[in-house]
Amino acid sequence: MSSSDALKWLNENFNFVDSVTIIDHSGTIIAKQRFNPRYTDEENAVDNQWALGKNLLEVFPGQNFQSSALLAALKEDGVIYRQQEIVWNHLGKKSVTNNLTIPIVCRGQFVGSVQLSRDVTNMGRSGRAAPRVSSASTGARYTVEDIVGRSPEIQEVRRLIQRIANSSSSVLVYGETGTGKELVVSSIHNASYRKDKTFMPINCAALPESILESLLFGTHRGAFTGAEDRAGLIEECSGGTIYLDEINSMPLKLQSKLLRVLDTKTVMPLGATKPKDVDIRIVASVNRSPEQLMQNKEMLPDLFFRLNAIHIRVPPLRSRPEDIELLVRHFLESYNRQLGKQNHGISPEAMALLKTYSWPGNVRELEHTIEAALNLTDGSQELQVADIPAYFFSPGSAVGTDAPSAPNIPLREAVANYERDLIRKALQDTGGNIDRAAALLQLPRTTLYSRMDKLGLR
Ligand SMILES: Nc1ncnc2c1ncn2[C@@H]1O[C@H](COP(=O)(O)OP(=O)(O)OP(=O)(O)O)[C@@H](O)[C@H]1O
Ligand SMILES: [Mg+2]
Repeated sequence: MSSSDALKWLNENFNFVDSVTIIDHSGTIIAKQRFNPRYTDEENAVDNQWALGKNLLEVFPGQNFQSSALLAALKEDGVIYRQQEIVWNHLGKKSVTNNLTIPIVCRGQFVGSVQLSRDVTNMGRSGRAAPRVSSASTGARYTVEDIVGRSPEIQEVRRLIQRIANSSSSVLVYGETGTGKELVVSSIHNASYRKDKTFMPINCAALPESILESLLFGTHRGAFTGAEDRAGLIEECSGGTIYLDEINSMPLKLQSKLLRVLDTKTVMPLGATKPKDVDIRIVASVNRSPEQLMQNKEMLPDLFFRLNAIHIRVPPLRSRPEDIELLVRHFLESYNRQLGKQNHGISPEAMALLKTYSWPGNVRELEHTIEAALNLTDGSQELQVADIPAYFFSPGSAVGTDAPSAPNIPLREAVANYERDLIRKALQDTGGNIDRAAALLQLPRTTLYSRMDKLGLR
């Protein structure tokens, strides 16, 4: 773009703004000024006030770290410009904005971000600026290539995503917290023919029932006092993918309404009498076993069977220890770049330590550990054991710390108890697979067998 083009662009798109929002590194809104001339002074003032001190995800429950430019800017070097970003606030009110978002960096650390927004809610898609919705603004940032890992399980997950991406069946993704469910779901969308359409993640646990209901299904004028004709997300995102995160938190009544949408490929807004055709792909996720959720009546069996047409299980990190090294190197490289460090890898001892940890918070915890460790180094050498954050060594953090503390028993017996617990845990984590348990414990398979014989575990 020549400088005169750039000036023209700036003049056309940012000769005024309707609001400025500033968040800190945790996503808390620390400043918000709306001066949108289309609203009354009072409306602007109310909007300025109520969001202060709240977390951005509370104010805009449909947003997440990928779809919100303000949150993305906490990790991204440089300015993010997105057109036609669609958000719904906590009352289900939709707005469309063009946003210029800038990270605030202080001494090499991301401390917050600032967003200048221009409200284009009622300007239509073919407005003066001829907006083009790029795939970035559909909110699905990851592709299959972003899923790091060489374990057979992760390879299978990648293969499965490619195989099912273009199917129209619903998908249920199951995995503990931090295992990469969102990465998987976003990759499904991006590998499918829907990739240029909307990807809409919704955290079902973050919204009260009434809001979730009108947000998803829409409302018909007069359905309740003040209700307007408003399309729900299922209709708005037609052609695209809706990601229902923590679907077990959705009240059963809404689950059965969703089942009807899947069965009939139509949606009935609240208070409407005629259903509307929709073409939506639903991908849902749960972080506990679906069987347990059904038993606890948190999930409607009929909906489960419907969603489960395609089932992807993302295994916990402790059951695929061979992925740890690749992930560590991946995050070292990416945070090196983000934090502007010149780190030269990691010492074998530090790597070994990371490999022995059980990672209850899975890949997310590993990612944060690397980020924290890099922040502690001066960044020009190898990462050392001493750089790994202190909480890592705290009681209860390492594998097997739930082993008996061995008061008043012979050392040999205490060691045997400890060893038995570690092996039992490894077998439990790998579903009883001896090869994988041996890998987890870094023992040859034959040694593991003989230890198990000795300890009476066979
Ligand atoms: N295999 C992987 N390769 C690279 N990065 C990964 C992988 N798995 C997870 N991550 C990263 O770890 C973090 C957590 O992943 P994600 O948000 O997808 O987890 P989640 O299962 O949705 O967690 P939660 O249940 O808490 O919502 C993200 O930053 C993601 O990019
Ligand atoms: Mg998630």
